[in-house]
Parts: sequence; C-alpha cells; structure tokens
Amino acid sequence: MAVLYHSDKHIFTLHTRNSTYQMMVDSYGSLLHLYYGARSSGFMDYLLTYEDVGFSGNPYVAGMDRTYSLDTLPQEYPTLGTGDYRSYALNVEHADGSQCCHLTFSHYEIRKGKYQLQGLPSVYAAAEEADTLEIVLEDVVSRVEVRLLYGVLEEIDVITRSVIIRNMGDDKITLKKASGACLDFLSGDYEILGFYGRHAMERNLERRKVVHGLTSFGSRRGASSHQHNPAMILADQDTTEDSGICYGMLFVYSGNFLCEAEKDQRDQTRLIMGLNTDWFSYPLGVGEEFRVPEVILSYSGEGLSKLSHNYHTCILEHVCRGRYVRETRPVLLNSWEAAYFKFNGETIVNLAREAAELGMDMVVMDDGWFGKRDHDDSSLGDWQVNEKKLGCTLAELIEKVNSFGVKFGIWVEPEMVNEDSDLYREHPDWAITIEKRSPVRSRNQLLLDFSRKEVREHLFEQVCAVLDQGKIEYLKWDMNRSMTDVYDGRLTYDYVLGVYEFLEKLTVKYPNLLIEGCCGGGGRFDAGMLYYTPQIWCSDNTDAVNRTRIQYGTSFFYPISAVGSHVSAVPNHQTGRVTSLHTRGIVAMAGTFGYELNPARLSKEERQAVKEQIQEYKKHEAIIRQGRYYRLSNPFSESFSGWMFVSEDQKEALVQVVRLSLEGNMAPLYVKLRGLNPERIYMDEAAGRTYPGAALMECGIPLLSPNEEYEACQMVLKEV
Ligand code: GLA
Repeated sequence: MAVLYHSDKHIFTLHTRNSTYQMMVDSYGSLLHLYYGARSSGFMDYLLTYEDVGFSGNPYVAGMDRTYSLDTLPQEYPTLGTGDYRSYALNVEHADGSQCCHLTFSHYEIRKGKYQLQGLPSVYAAAEEADTLEIVLEDVVSRVEVRLLYGVLEEIDVITRSVIIRNMGDDKITLKKASGACLDFLSGDYEILGFYGRHAMERNLERRKVVHGLTSFGSRRGASSHQHNPAMILADQDTTEDSGICYGMLFVYSGNFLCEAEKDQRDQTRLIMGLNTDWFSYPLGVGEEFRVPEVILSYSGEGLSKLSHNYHTCILEHVCRGRYVRETRPVLLNSWEAAYFKFNGETIVNLAREAAELGMDMVVMDDGWFGKRDHDDSSLGDWQVNEKKLGCTLAELIEKVNSFGVKFGIWVEPEMVNEDSDLYREHPDWAITIEKRSPVRSRNQLLLDFSRKEVREHLFEQVCAVLDQGKIEYLKWDMNRSMTDVYDGRLTYDYVLGVYEFLEKLTVKYPNLLIEGCCGGGGRFDAGMLYYTPQIWCSDNTDAVNRTRIQYGTSFFYPISAVGSHVSAVPNHQTGRVTSLHTRGIVAMAGTFGYELNPARLSKEERQAVKEQIQEYKKHEAIIRQGRYYRLSNPFSESFSGWMFVSEDQKEALVQVVRLSLEGNMAPLYVKLRGLNPERIYMDEAAGRTYPGAALMECGIPLLSPNEEYEACQMVLKEV
C-alpha cells in the first residue's frame, strides 16, 4: 500500500517509487504538512519548530502558548482567518458576512484505486495502479466540511490532489477562494518555472527567483489561456535537465486559475494552485458541495527531464482517453492556411486528391463551411452546411474525399455565436452578457452560455446532426475568444463544467472520433482538455523557428502526442519568415504532424520532398509518439534548438536539431545527447558511423554546417 497511517503519531505517509509525502495531525487537530521530496522512511515531524513570533496569531485552543502559530507552521490546506497571514487555499464567507474557516481533523479513509471527480476531468487508474487517501477536516462552528483527496500513483511518481467542500451547516455559505493544492516548504531558496505567452506565441519558459512576497500568475479569461499555462515548477537554483530537485504542479482544468508562490517572513516557501478568485464567488446552499479541480504533483530528484517524463507518462496513460491515445494519428491536411474562408467543395476535393497522391491520411475542412460564413463576422451558432458554397451536400463531399482513400475531418466552434446568426436572432439571451450592458466583442463574436443546460443541449444536437451526415473521423474543436461579461460568481466555473459535460457526451456517443482541441491555437492547452481531446493545436503560429520555442515550453508538462503541429507554406503567414521544407518538416515531426498549405502551389521538387517527408515521418512515428522525449537545448538562450526521442529499451533514438542563429566563422556545434545507454555503441546508418553512447552524452556530436540559416538535421541511432 502506498498510503500509510501511523496512528500513534497521527502521521500519514504517501510513497511513490522515488518520492515521499508526509503530513501529521497535531494535538490541536491541525493538519500539518511535514515533507515532500526524495523517498524516505521514518517520521519527519522533527522538522517542525515552535517559536514565539511577533504578530503571528495563536489559536485560542493553544491557550497562552505563544509559540504555536499557523502563521509559521507548514499546512496542508491553509484557510483565511486562522492567524496565518500568508496566501491561503480556501476562503469561506458565512451568511453573517464573516470570512473565517478553522479546519481541524475529523476522520480519514484509505482505499484501493483512484478517486474520481464527478463532472470534472481527473487522472484515472486501474484499481491496482493507485491508492486514495481521503482526509476529512471540518470547521466545527460552521460545519463546513473539507474533504482532501490524495491519489497516489506509486509507479509513476505522481500524487494527485483535489478537494470537495460541503456545506453541512444550517446556513448558506459562499466560497471566495478554492484551491486544489498547497505545498509548504520549510527551507530552501527556490526558483519558479512558469510558461507565459500570447496568441501565436504560447508557453515561453520563464524562470525566476521566488522572492519575499507573492509571485502569482493565472487566467481570468474564461479559458486556461495563451498568456499563462496552468502549470508551474519549483526548482533549486542549480537544477538542470539532468540533475537537481524539482516539483511540478499541473492543474487539470481549462478555465480561470491562479498559481501563487510566496516566500514568507521566515523564508519558507508556499505554493498554491487553484481557481482564480476574480469573478469567483460560489454560493453553497445547505447540504451542497463544490468540487475543486485536481492538481497533479510530481517530484524529481534527477532534474527537469525526469519531471517531464513523469508528466508525459501520467498524461498519456492516465489523462488522455480513447482509442487514439495508443494509435497512430492521421497525417492530416488542414484547409485553414491553404484556403482560409475562400473555398468550395471542389477546393476540398482537390486537397483530398493531393493528400492521396502525397501520402497523407486525412483532409480537414476548417472554418467557413456553415451558415453564410465567408468572413469571421457571421454565422457562428448556425451549424447548417452551406451546400450552396460547397456545391454539394456534406455527405457527397465526404464520399468524394473518401473515394481517394482519404479520411475526412471538420472544424467547429460550438461555444460561440455571432450576432449575425439565426441562433442569436432567435436566442439573444443565450449569449453571455450582463443585463443592461452592451457586451464586449472579440473577433466579432460572443460566448454562448455553456453553463446553461438548454444551450448545451441545443448545440449538442446541432453538432451531432453534422457528425451524422457522413463518415467524419476527426473534429477540430475551436474557441476563439476570451470570456467577459461575467454576470455572476458561478459562471466561470459552471461554464467550464458545461464544456466538459458536452465533451464527455460527445466522446461517449462517438468513441471513434478523434477530437483535436484548439483555442486560437494553444489558448486552452491543458490537462483538462486532454482528458477529452488527445491532441491540441499547439499554436496558430506555424513558423518553424518560433515553433521550436513554443514546443519547447509545451514539452515540460505535455507529451509530444498531444502537440498539434503542421508544415505550412513560406513565407510563413504569421512571421513572413522563409525556412526550408526540410526544417519545417523536422519541427512539425515533434508533434502530431500534418500540413497546413495548398499542395497545388508546391513545385514538382517540393511535392517529391513532401512525399519523402511523410514516409520519413511514418517510419519514426512510433518512437515519436511512444519514446522518451529529451530536450537538448534551451532555444531561448542557445543558438540551436534540439530534442530527441529514445525508445524504452534505449536501443533506438531519433535526434532532431534546428540552427536558430548564425555568425561568421562559427565554431562547430557540439550537441550533447541524452537518455542513451552509456555502455552501448550506436550506429548512424545514414552516415555509416558508430559512436559510443557515453561519449555522445559527455562530449556531444558535431552537427549542422555553419552556413545555412535555420538549417535542420536529423539523425537516427540504432544500437549495434
Ligand atoms: C483559430 C484556429 C485556426 C483556425 C481558425 C479558423 O484561429 O486556431 O487554426 O481554425 O480559428 O477561424
């Protein structure tokens, strides 16, 4: 059993293969956090110190003992109003307006298997793969009950946390803050790694010192956002890819979130991850409960690569669902950058013909096929096929596409409405607005209120009616604006749960449908969406050079199989940059791989190159999807971007490198490889040369000639 309770000391211990997590109920009933780190036996209560600290409150139960303060002790789930003035995980407002919640231990339960959260995505596991610890705390005065849930996936070094808050009292309460997890560290001088960005430039890595006071980031955009990803890493200052300690926190949620890191007056560090407090004020009637989305924790004592591997395994094997998780994904040709809104049925049929000739598996008809949508100012909400524009029915179009041996996929954006749509004309109140105020527009569209059942049901019918018209094997689920006009404190949360309910129903009804998430590219790239959509369009930026950074940042938490990535035309539509087809191919291969261009505009030589590129990708597809992914450089600070995939048995590896900057008379570029077996000899068949594994990792290998901007190279290594 990975969960132990030592009754004489009131200590709970969670063990994973390489980590230990420990907490204790003290004599006043407080649940104190003791330890999270390298696997260890024994008890860590010796770490606690008690001193009289000025201006730190002492709970009444401690009598005149001025050395007992929740302001200085490490806690599992700190709340506002207990004399702890640091950032807190939970804030409850009572009917009389007071904000205070003093939680003490009530009881616990240990059970086999992993808990699940009704209505929310969460890590799943077979009964023998996980254990659950549930600790129930309560505020004796208000009878607010807080159930702390811990899921322990021992083999993969993952601990999940979630919280269920129940109002067992006689009066209404309002949740003003609800977090999934808090981690307190008694000592250490740490750094925080976060992933910030913007539309078309998501998940840039930023590493900064945890300083005194609060460092926080999050989203109040209704979706997890392009601007900050719901993920953070706490690391020692000298932690690298291969060494040092680090802790990850990943939110399994696709809406407003808040990540906080605080160094307190005694140099202790507190991390909190949960729902954003802005626009959040959630009433709970008597007997009602609230489920806080899950946080996935992981610890690595062997640097950032190991931490990433823990998350990759967890997401691939315990978050993503459906047949495609373990299956080869189709190489697809998307119509967006090939034609934007300007296409008809013949355009799509031509793309399919080209796709077949070049060896692609699927054609996706992106935005523009419904209502009267020839621009982005109309028709969202009217999911009726524009047969006039297509020149045929959807069924006929799909049949033509299929006749080339090519599969068919389609784009939708069900959460949105244009004011110029029949849906809006009929149900203007279905759009999210605040009474008497004009709403904020974005991309000429408004959000539909997915917190309302009748709205979801109508849209569900509409989407199903499209999917039922023919053999549709892929759906791109888009969301192209942020939320505004939040009319009450429940909406931001209920909206996300509405989206989840919709997607759950859809995946149950269409188990063979591959759904790719999208939000103006990667504006909702999170573990919550990955529960329903095993891949997500990583960014609207298809520039190969920018993509090396976007995909680098994405790789810290998310597996390569989740990363939607395509080869697009040059000059690139977002940056105007010209890179070779080869370079674009190498970069797109570190993802689900596909094309975002019109093949008819390619030269004969380019067409041949595309054919070969697809064959090349298909050769390596298994190792890309299933192998261990290693970052070989930091493209934010180094002159190249490199990464590699290593098979589980370390017998094979695929190395991919892109030159990012050039100077005159450059020294050779030695790229140090990772993850190989140091004892083995590897062969590069293309070059006909062998190399010792240890040397490849110690000294690196000279790659790339210094005379071609954005040049890329690939090397396949096989054990001799
Ligand atoms: C978003 C997506 C694009 C494309 C357009 C269509 O921006 O990220 O890939 O589907 O919408 O409007």
